[in-house]
Amino acid sequence: MLVSGGRVIDPTQELDRRIDVRLDGARVIELGEHLKPLDDEMVVDASGAYVAPGFIDMHVHLREPGFPEKETIATGSAAAGAGGFTAVACMPNTQPAIDRSDVVAQIRDLAAQAGLARVYPIAAITRGRAGRELLDYAALAAAHAVGFSDDGQSVDDPRVLFDAAQRARDVAPRFISHCEDERLKTSAAPDAAEEIIVARDLIVAEASGKKWHIAHVSTAGSLALIRWARSRGIDVTCEVTPHHLYFTSELASEWGAKAAVNPPLRRSSDIAALREGVLDGTIDAFATDHAPHTAQEKASDPAAPGFTGLEIAIGAYALALPELSVTRFVELLSTNPARILGVDGGSLRLGSPADVTIFADRPWTVDVAHFYSKGRCTPFEGKRLPRRATATIVGGRLVMRDGKVRT
Ligand code: DOR
Repeated sequence: MLVSGGRVIDPTQELDRRIDVRLDGARVIELGEHLKPLDDEMVVDASGAYVAPGFIDMHVHLREPGFPEKETIATGSAAAGAGGFTAVACMPNTQPAIDRSDVVAQIRDLAAQAGLARVYPIAAITRGRAGRELLDYAALAAAHAVGFSDDGQSVDDPRVLFDAAQRARDVAPRFISHCEDERLKTSAAPDAAEEIIVARDLIVAEASGKKWHIAHVSTAGSLALIRWARSRGIDVTCEVTPHHLYFTSELASEWGAKAAVNPPLRRSSDIAALREGVLDGTIDAFATDHAPHTAQEKASDPAAPGFTGLEIAIGAYALALPELSVTRFVELLSTNPARILGVDGGSLRLGSPADVTIFADRPWTVDVAHFYSKGRCTPFEGKRLPRRATATIVGGRLVMRDGKVRT
């Protein structure tokens, strides 16, 4: 396949140039100006668009096994393809939880059957995500888990977390913290519910030597704690969602219970701090926390927390951060997620996987009726977004073109 005429952005090669990219079934095999199509070679015209290493959403909920009414691996990977993601990392709050190697294998099998996006399972930190029993982290990593998290909640007992981190210290995948102390959450200090766990987990990271990642950072204070941790040499990365970069808790006055999300939407001062954190490099990755629920679950009060994110992501990040350079944009969506998860990809260097995202600054209006995801609840519904994916190529195969996924 020849991807021709696009502006190729690859931070791993400091590349921002109009060149062509040649792929075979598996790898990037040639980069250069005015490459001539070979006989029988498929040509993907990328003129007027950006060509980047495949985007990786390192935080999604695909709901299988256990909740196929919300999403399946097939519908979730179609949504990934539609949104321009060649790969996603899926969280373990499934039923059963991803706490055994055979569940990791089951998800990888379902993803291979769907044949759209690459799906990287994140395993739990504790058995059943119940916060008590440690797991065999080396075995889960050998089964290709790319991270460990009890996402959806924090590990409540610091001793359990510390013992888990010590046990997993020499296993490559990072621990990924969902930071919310349930006991403080509905108090007069809702920021403290997040920050107390961010601080605790960073201290556990330092004491254990485990590499860490903080999921969906949502407050200015959390960013300050992450900067403090880095000043002490703690190896910590972090991510931010599209909704936390754009909406405040005021959304609830318009949207009611449906605005529920964990962590909750905050103040405009937090949004300003998060945007600053993206621009100054404190925040390493964009991640959607794609959290599909049924219409009924979102319509009840209290509503199931979370928004569907894969299909609005690229446009929403560009809406929230119009001043962000396209190179940093690709770094946050591809280079850095690949590095944080330790997966192949995130680059268009020769020999890299043939995973490519083509995107363009073409405004469009979000219409949830067109989603491939079963989850239809996003606060970006009806919004005019400035950027979109125009093609998604996974392993040398054109999975999406102009919004249509080849299912
Ligand atoms: O809003 C959320 N929904 N936050 C989470 O951490 C979990 C997610 C879900 O699984 O629905």
